[in-house]
Parts: sequence; structure tokens; C-alpha cells
Amino acid sequence: MRELEGQVAVVTGGSRGIGRAIALELSRAGASVAVVARSEKRAQDTVDALEGRGAAFGCDVADASRCADLVQAAEERLGPISILVNNAGITRDNVLVRMKDEDWDAVMSTNLRGAFNTTRAVARGMMKRRSGRIINIASVVGLTGNRGQANYAASKAGLVGFTKSVAQELAARGVLANVVAPGFIETDMTAELPDEAREALLGRIPLERFGAPEDVAGAVRFLAGPAASYMTGQVLVVDGGMVM
Ligand code: NAI
Repeated sequence: MRELEGQVAVVTGGSRGIGRAIALELSRAGASVAVVARSEKRAQDTVDALEGRGAAFGCDVADASRCADLVQAAEERLGPISILVNNAGITRDNVLVRMKDEDWDAVMSTNLRGAFNTTRAVARGMMKRRSGRIINIASVVGLTGNRGQANYAASKAGLVGFTKSVAQELAARGVLANVVAPGFIETDMTAELPDEAREALLGRIPLERFGAPEDVAGAVRFLAGPAASYMTGQVLVVDGGMVM
């Protein structure tokens, strides 16, 4: 089924990992996809793999004015944006007492401020057209907290509050906003975890495997499509049952 035929999606952090899988999945569903990464060249690699129309954009989501330009450029190339997936995210892990100001600020700027920048930039158009889907990629860590990730967990918990507020503000205009909260997904971000930590984590996952980027992409496709038209302000957890 190509339920997103004729729609235009923006996926931030789309050059690799979960963002790349989301871009490919939305393309399979029929959407044209604007793939955003800090490097336009790396975003282009994903665009080359799309099934239908797409375009690559280089943009640091932490920069508000570049996000406004991005939305304008993407609409000129592909048409009005109907789906925004805020997936760009970074980690700068450390225990609280050793966490540097720069580590706190960098994570907040990309993970939380970045989603604000892009969401504000698309909101007016979506409201005018009385339809749109905003899907923010948080993390189960935003729900539970995690040692060594005070900055990251705070940014992801912040995304949940942000999404629920946006959902309430925009519902009457037909714009829906939801969160996907992945558990442990095999990507470059998680590749460096030591073996003992991986074993310990695996023991906490009832489905007894780590997630794949495609597991998250499936949930995003669902939230972007007609089957989710009565859902807004929700957190969909995709973690093999780790957090219940
Ligand atoms: P990754 O590190 O493999 O990819 C991150 C992507 O974001 C890259 O394309 C990178 O270029 C882009 N990016 C980073 N900073 C950016 C910025 N300032 N502006 C534009 N693009 C930027 O990460 P992964 O694992 O694919 O994660 C994607 C999202 O899923 C992140 O938000 C992450 O926090 C979240 N997540 C990942 C989990 C995992 O286990 N891998 C678990 C839960 C959440």
C-alpha cells in the first residue's frame, strides 16, 4: 500500500541509522522525502536509495534561521510539507559531576532546540492547510532517565513535553504531533557500547534482541499515515518490551 502518495516528508538526521531507515520507509509508502543532515553530500546518499522523489539538504537543525531556509527550499523543490520527522540527535555522555557546559548545551541544541526550530518553521503552513503530522524521535531514556545521560535524557523528556504542547495547540487545525521512543537500536550511535553493557541490556529486553532502524521506521510510517488519524500527543515506545 502506498498510503502516503502525493505527500512531502522532511526527515532530519536522514543520512544514516534510524533517520535513513525512516526516509526509505516513507518513500516506500509513496511520500517525496527531503533528507536533511549536517552534510548535504551524506544526505544525498540516502536520496540516491529512495524509491521515488526526494532531495538532499545540508542543515544544522540547531540553527533556527537555517531551519527556516530549509523549509522554504524543501517546499520549493518538493511541494508543501505534510510530514515532519525530527530524528536528528546526538549524545555527549558523562556522569553529572564531570559533565561540561558544552556537553549539556550541544545535546540540548540539537535534540530539543532543533525540533523546536523545524517544527515552528513548518507549523504555519500545516495550520493553513489544516493537515500535517509531526513525529519526534525521543528515547525510552527520556521516560526512565539513565546514568551518564542527564543531558540526553533531559532533552528527550523535553521532547515529550514539547510534543504534547504542540499537539494541544495544533489539534484544532488538523495537525497531529506524536513521539516515537525507541529502546536500544543497532546504529552508529550505539555501536561503541562495551560488550558487558550490551549483554546487561539484552537481559532487560523481553523480545531478546536489539532493535533495528526498520523497527522504528515502521512506527513512524504508521504515525504518518491514515491509520493514526485519531492519535495525537502520544508516546509510542518501540523497545522490545524493555520499558512497560
Ligand atoms: P546516528 O548517530 O546514527 O544518526 C544521527 C543523525 O543525525 C545523523 O544523520 C547526523 O548527521 C544527524 N545529526 C546530528 N546532529 C545534527 C544536527 N545538528 N543537524 C542535522 N542533523 C544532525 O543516530 P541514530 O542511532 O540513528 O539515532 C537517531 C535518533 O534516534 C536520535 O535522535 C537518537 O537520539 C534516537 N534514538 C536512538 C536510539 C538508538 O539506540 N540508536 C535509541 C533511542 C533514540
